[in-house]
Amino acid sequence: MIVLLTGAAGLIGAEVAARLAAKGAAVIGLVHRNPNLTRNNGRPIRTVPWNGAPRPGTVTTVTGDVTQPRLGLEQYNAIREAADIVVHCAAITDFGRAQHVYDGVNVNGTDHVLRLVRPRDARPVPLVHVSTAYVCGEHEGTFREADLDTGQSFGTAYEQSKFRAETMVREAQEGGLPAAVVRPSIVVGAERTGVVREFQNMYVVLKALTEGRVRSIPGYYDAHLDLVPVDYVADVVVEATLRFAAAEGRTFHALGAAPHTLRDFSDVLAEYPTFHVPRYIPPSSFSAEKLPATERIYYERIVGLYETYFRRTVVHENVNAAELLGRKPGAQGLPYLRRLLDHALKVGYLGTPLPSVDEALAGLAKEGR
Ligand SMILES: NC(=O)c1ccc[n+]([C@@H]2O[C@H](COP(=O)([O-])OP(=O)(O)OC[C@H]3O[C@@H](n4cnc5c(N)ncnc54)[C@H](OP(=O)(O)O)[C@@H]3O)[C@@H](O)[C@H]2O)c1
Repeated sequence: MIVLLTGAAGLIGAEVAARLAAKGAAVIGLVHRNPNLTRNNGRPIRTVPWNGAPRPGTVTTVTGDVTQPRLGLEQYNAIREAADIVVHCAAITDFGRAQHVYDGVNVNGTDHVLRLVRPRDARPVPLVHVSTAYVCGEHEGTFREADLDTGQSFGTAYEQSKFRAETMVREAQEGGLPAAVVRPSIVVGAERTGVVREFQNMYVVLKALTEGRVRSIPGYYDAHLDLVPVDYVADVVVEATLRFAAAEGRTFHALGAAPHTLRDFSDVLAEYPTFHVPRYIPPSSFSAEKLPATERIYYERIVGLYETYFRRTVVHENVNAAELLGRKPGAQGLPYLRRLLDHALKVGYLGTPLPSVDEALAGLAKEGR
């Protein structure tokens, strides 16, 4: 099987590339600015440059840009003819970017991928589209795997752009495109080790909170966040690709075994002596404008981007991925949260920051040394 994989150097993409190649697929990894594929555990993935004939069990890289027509690929026609299936992982995933960035990469990028898999004059190429469980936006109650547009509002431009992209994929499916959709929730460290290659998104929020940069947030103790191990997400994407006949036409929520409430977060954070534990304040009585100046900057630039997540109680249906893989993630509950935090502490991402050289020198000067 020859697989064209966009976003191949990303957190999920690299794990998908390594797994597919290990199972004998010939992977054509579309890379963008970063040409290097690195496993979640930090090991580099060996790649070979495109030579027109991708070999089973290898990862070939090609440089492209999904915002461009024909994905900015010089080898567009040859790749389109070679690919047995396309896995679309490329996206802008961080919050707080300008609308046009999400439109360009997440929405137009998906449109360009759809043009590749649905040529006017040739057979369609099956597509596995990686979306997000948070296309649910601020939907209340249960969000089923078959649901998409429930009239929900959106808390971030990111999730709205992913919703628009998935809507285009669904319309293409209704027009005959063989496609499957995988919707991961919030992707975090590996099941057994808690290791994560990059501390993105929710980890940045945890850093601002545990360092006490932001001390109170508008939210409810019973709001919940779904954290899914990166290796589980990669397993779901790979299974949907290699067993496409079983995945076609279906949507897979790639979720943790069970969501964590904000109370779970406070309980576990309180076990770490160097961590500040945020206070949750009812959203109706919270005002960022009343925060001290520095705290307000951290709130507006980091924590506030996730504001709606601190009050959501949506329940994601969790049937299809567990059925496809035959399991839910084994890591769960407070022990898994501790594992994630322990790893971040061990590598120095979380924890009381050491004084800078300037601060240390200022301390010595104060002591008269
Ligand atoms: N991480 C999560 O918590 C999470 C949760 C739910 C869903 N997802 C979805 O899962 C997918 C993969 O996410 P991830 O966590 O692996 O993200 P990631 O680590 O940020 O990787 C995204 C990849 O997309 C590439 N990319 C960005 N702009 C591009 C462009 N214009 N053309 C081609 N490639 C481009 C990036 O390449 P460069 O860095 O070289 O630009 C990067 O390799 C995304 O669709 C995301 O929406 C992620």
